[in-house]
Amino acid sequence: MSELTLKEVLNSSVRYLAEAGISTPRQDAEILISHVLGLSRVDLYLNFHWTLTPQEHQAVEELIRERGQRYPLQYLTGEVAFGGLILRIEPGVFIPRPETELLVECAVGVLGSSEFRSSIVRANSSCPFPVMNAGRRTGSGSPVVLDVGTGCGAIALSVAREVKDCLVYALDISAQAIDLARFNAQKLGLQERITFLVGDFVQITPAELRGKVDLVASNPPYIKKSDIARLEPEVRDYEAAAIDGGKDGLAYFRRLLPFAQQFLAPGGQLLLEIGEGQVQEILHLAEQTSFELVGIHQDLGGIDRIIQLRKKSHCLNQR
Ligand SMILES: C[S@@+](CC[C@H](N)C(=O)[O-])C[C@H]1O[C@@H](n2cnc3c(N)ncnc32)[C@H](O)[C@@H]1O
Repeated sequence: MSELTLKEVLNSSVRYLAEAGISTPRQDAEILISHVLGLSRVDLYLNFHWTLTPQEHQAVEELIRERGQRYPLQYLTGEVAFGGLILRIEPGVFIPRPETELLVECAVGVLGSSEFRSSIVRANSSCPFPVMNAGRRTGSGSPVVLDVGTGCGAIALSVAREVKDCLVYALDISAQAIDLARFNAQKLGLQERITFLVGDFVQITPAELRGKVDLVASNPPYIKKSDIARLEPEVRDYEAAAIDGGKDGLAYFRRLLPFAQQFLAPGGQLLLEIGEGQVQEILHLAEQTSFELVGIHQDLGGIDRIIQLRKKSHCLNQR
């Protein structure tokens, strides 16, 4: 393998990725080359005339080739930026998307609001059983959050980091996802406030949490099964299991809304990420399950992306 400068390797990688149909060829090439060389992307440009060793050149070529075959970028580097966090990610676990940061913003806003906080204290005072968390008895006043379908832990970890006193339950049907989420929590020093549970959310959520949860957050599988074949190869070939929302994309919501109705405290909130065009159907389901609408939040593309619902608070004594 002949010796080439960083600039030459970058330029040929960008050309290769562009020809392979990658929509962000320069960005992807920079990220992969930085990853191999252990440099920041800015440093690449400061060291354009460096010569790569044959081993470095070969490592870059392998990653660029795989990316050209539409293998997801984040699986190649093993990490993903989400909010202010860098999370470990691996094939088999859904890669968090920027839209979901909006859900986290909403969750942090709800949990930080003094109006919401005072309703928690009021409700807790009538609760005879303190909520259990990983074998510890928690004092009243700490908000309890469920992240249903946590994946690598993006929502659970972001909320736990921003809201210092909350207790989070992170659930996923995939044992691999939960192992990864637990790894990410340990890396960030957040494992003490997060309980990880593997299995179907309806079956594994501890019964003692019924009526005591303050916030349920979920970015569920919501893509119609028949639409998956039309998605970009990166998503279609590597993430189908995590996004399959059944025949009409609503299968998961049909189970999640009644579940949240049971587990939320009166006045507690449900934050759901939804797909484009699903808002009316979800509102219909919300009406059927006696939720009231708090708000609909749009993503940067102007698409209705997050639905914020509240469990009606006519029965505070349920908690
Ligand atoms: C679209 S991914 C979202 C992952 C993560 N919340 C995020 O935003 O990056 C949906 C997740 O739900 C999980 N899931 C699917 N069905 C589930 C079920 N019945 N119970 C618990 N988790 C489930 C999948 O394994 C997957 O990790």
